[in-house]
Amino acid sequence: PAAPLVLGIETSCDETGFGIVRGTELLANAVASSMEEHVRFGGVIPEIAARAHLEEFIPTLQQALDTAGVTLEEIDAIAVTSGPGLAGALMVGVAGAKALALAANKPLFGINHLVAHVGVGVLDGVAESGTGPAAVVLGDGASGGDPHILPAPPLPENLGALLVSGGHTEILQVNRLTTDVTLLGSTIDDAAGEAYDKVARLLGAGYPGGPVIDRLAQQGDPKAFRFPRGLSAPKFVGSAEDPGKHRHNWSFSGLKTAVARCVEQFEAAGVPEDQIPTADIAASFQEAVADVITAKAVRACTEHGITHLLLGGGVAANSRLRSLLAERCDAAGIGLTVPPVRLCTDNGAMVAALGAQLVADGVKPSGLDFAADPGQPV
Ligand code: KG4
Ligand code: ZN
Repeated sequence: PAAPLVLGIETSCDETGFGIVRGTELLANAVASSMEEHVRFGGVIPEIAARAHLEEFIPTLQQALDTAGVTLEEIDAIAVTSGPGLAGALMVGVAGAKALALAANKPLFGINHLVAHVGVGVLDGVAESGTGPAAVVLGDGASGGDPHILPAPPLPENLGALLVSGGHTEILQVNRLTTDVTLLGSTIDDAAGEAYDKVARLLGAGYPGGPVIDRLAQQGDPKAFRFPRGLSAPKFVGSAEDPGKHRHNWSFSGLKTAVARCVEQFEAAGVPEDQIPTADIAASFQEAVADVITAKAVRACTEHGITHLLLGGGVAANSRLRSLLAERCDAAGIGLTVPPVRLCTDNGAMVAALGAQLVADGVKPSGLDFAADPGQPV
């Protein structure tokens, strides 16, 4: 049978995404972001995000269909993110997807946003996309640093996924993409991207925090300050034989507080604002984030038999996270795939890719009576 033509819809946060795939072939990835509308508030405002999804829904769908050169009638199945995410934002996508499925008489799948991030890995060319700035495939230990080519599909055996964004920070074990994905660890408070946003605000550096801190950090000394690595104390980590409750979990709230104290100390000492070493603070903060994320991710992989790791989420764009993860995966003999940034940030293509795998695996569609689930577990 011909590979299924699947439309994927993503509206869990501030990106309205429509993707179209034929099996593992990416035909379109149209994304409209409401980020510009959130900038003046210094964070995503759920109500604004939901309204923007409603406005962008039809234009972005049309753009994806035009790019792919297909009609809605030709689509074999529709997949939509049902959670986790912002309630109102998810509802627009789910309601819109149901309307399309009903009107065009198509099977509909409600899918998990986190698993969809992993779904990117099956797309043709993701692993072979080279080593340019937008598409990085990094070496594994076994091949002496040669690019590790991720066969697509199927996904590599013993696959893990590290997801780091403004909304989530998780490490997943992918036994089977369509049926068996388990959570090994996650943040217990802020997501990594949230920590970037909060620290950027403290430093008066702007929003969204990730790119501005990343840029500022290039001029700073990552060793200038030693900021805490959350949940790294022995009582949280335990040992491989007797793991602590938070062995594979992260916490970024203490780090954010430590950065705030650091800035306050300069202010209390009467240091003029323009002389506070913000680049050193940014670099030291970025080092702490990259260090604790990669150390815990690699440990989780090693202890759970994961031999290939896929990176996803907007923070995957971070320069230090990429380089340190590559270094540590390489040292641990773990293959690493870093998809192009436009497929790491929220998008509809990943939803379509997972949808196509569900169709290919013969998984029963969700029907029309499922709800948006803001706290949906993997
Ligand atoms: O995946 P994404 O587009 O949306 C969700 O939050 O789900 O990720 C956006 C996040 C923001 O918090 C942004 O600050 C962060 O990704 N980000 C970065 C970088 N570029 C974007 N964080 C660190 N370094 C970057 N270069
Ligand atoms: Zn996401």
